[in-house]
Amino acid sequence: MTTTVNEQYKLLGRKVEDKRQSEDFYPTPSYVTEALLEYHHFRGKIWEPACGDGRMAEVLKKSYQDVECSDLMDRGYGQSGVDFLKSNKRVANIVTNPPFQLAYEFIEQGLKLADDCLALLLPIRYLTGKKRAKLYAKFPPAKIIVIPNKVDFLGFGSPAMEFAWFVWKRGIKQTTIVWADTHDADVKRKRKKKA
Ligand SMILES: C[S@@+](CC[C@H](N)C(=O)[O-])C[C@H]1O[C@@H](n2cnc3c(N)ncnc32)[C@H](O)[C@@H]1O
Repeated sequence: MTTTVNEQYKLLGRKVEDKRQSEDFYPTPSYVTEALLEYHHFRGKIWEPACGDGRMAEVLKKSYQDVECSDLMDRGYGQSGVDFLKSNKRVANIVTNPPFQLAYEFIEQGLKLADDCLALLLPIRYLTGKKRAKLYAKFPPAKIIVIPNKVDFLGFGSPAMEFAWFVWKRGIKQTTIVWADTHDADVKRKRKKKA
């Protein structure tokens, strides 16, 4: 039997309205970040501006030396108290899984601050929507990297949403879509969880 996220929260004795994590904290499983690195190469410094507990940043650091990390909240990793939406610091690359309720604002701000690439993990349905379509017409992503399986951020089982990496690169106006091969990583992860 599968249960929805709301039902899972009821089973856990939490109020449905409390179901969103504090400040949208949904740490990204490492295979999802690895998929980005398999299909996209960055040049220069990377800023992870909503780093949470460093789940994504630790994967980035395995491949890139110059990774800066910050978050609005103190989650014991990187610099805390940094509101990305109020920053005016420019950097070569910005990579994150943004708080979903502020995803649009993160896209706009990231496009202003990233000198080369902006890579955001977003729900696939963010390809649609009138306001977003207008923004994408002006700033088309260079690459969409589809994560083929639904992503289970909290490890509750039966995740509900599909995601993709939306990658913008200055100077590239044509969008390429690729489907990441995450099957092996996903099978390994499920085996590890069962063991
Ligand atoms: C979906 S979690 C992602 C965490 C991490 N990037 C990962 O993928 O594992 C979003 C994070 O954004 C942070 N956040 C929310 N609003 C923010 C803001 N205005 N500026 C910076 N970080 C923010 C939250 O505290 C949370 O840690």
